Amino acid sequence: MSDVTGHDHSVQQSPLVSPKRTAYVYPSDLECDVTTGTGATLHMRPIRPDDADQLVHFHLNLSSGSIYRRYFSFHPELSENEVEHLTTVDYVDRLAFIVEDGDQLVAVGRYDRIPDTSEAEVAFLVTDRYQHHGLGLLLLKHLADAAFPIGITTFTAETQVNNRSMLGVFNDSGFPVTSSIEDEIVSLTFPIKPTEKSRARYAGRRKRPQGKGKGKHS
Ligand SMILES: CC(C)(COP(=O)(O)OP(=O)(O)OC[C@H]1O[C@@H](n2cnc3c(N)ncnc32)[C@H](O)[C@@H]1OP(=O)(O)O)[C@@H](O)C(=O)NCCC(=O)NCCS
Repeated sequence: MSDVTGHDHSVQQSPLVSPKRTAYVYPSDLECDVTTGTGATLHMRPIRPDDADQLVHFHLNLSSGSIYRRYFSFHPELSENEVEHLTTVDYVDRLAFIVEDGDQLVAVGRYDRIPDTSEAEVAFLVTDRYQHHGLGLLLLKHLADAAFPIGITTFTAETQVNNRSMLGVFNDSGFPVTSSIEDEIVSLTFPIKPTEKSRARYAGRRKRPQGKGKGKHS
């Protein structure tokens, strides 16, 4: 998608170009359309406070397994404070992308900078019927593209040791992931500076035929 300057944000930005992003100013230049592994075109954009109702509805429709893998606990409803925290971001140190199919929110990916560092923690949640369509990898790529030019150099994440889809997304990203395991939780860290490998993995994954890759982690 192009902004008023004609810049195409689907193309990897140069790490030397620092886009002007001002805290709490909605970065509409980060909006774009994405194509899933099944060929559907969905809209990805930064979250806004007025997405609260959509987010509540999204959460209510998740399976308990998906919620558990995201929050590490049984958490069927979001509290008002949580909804406000998740939908109100500053677009610099905290950024969340949502993916919409029409007016339906189907996925969220976010980073939260670890204060006073160049690291940010990432987390993802894709509604059950859209899982394995490539949205996890797309969200990771767009979060990295948004974070790196403003000085975030490393992503970290924690996930359960049996969360093969999440581990698959990180390991397939082309970023050089390192990990350690403690108490059934995998801690991952990786630099997000774009590399030929990360660009190639992203391009290659998008072209995969539907269904390829499923079953290997069943
Ligand atoms: C983990 C999660 C975010 C991954 O998102 P996703 O959109 O399903 O991820 P992707 O589709 O990019 O990749 C996952 C799988 O889809 C497959 N896939 C990706 N692109 C594909 C394509 N174009 N065609 C076919 N399959 C594809 C991948 O091979 C991968 O398969 P695997 O699970 O066998 O490794 C999602 O499953 C989810 O929300 N789970 C519940 C919450 C959770 O676990 N959150 C993580 C906590 S940090």
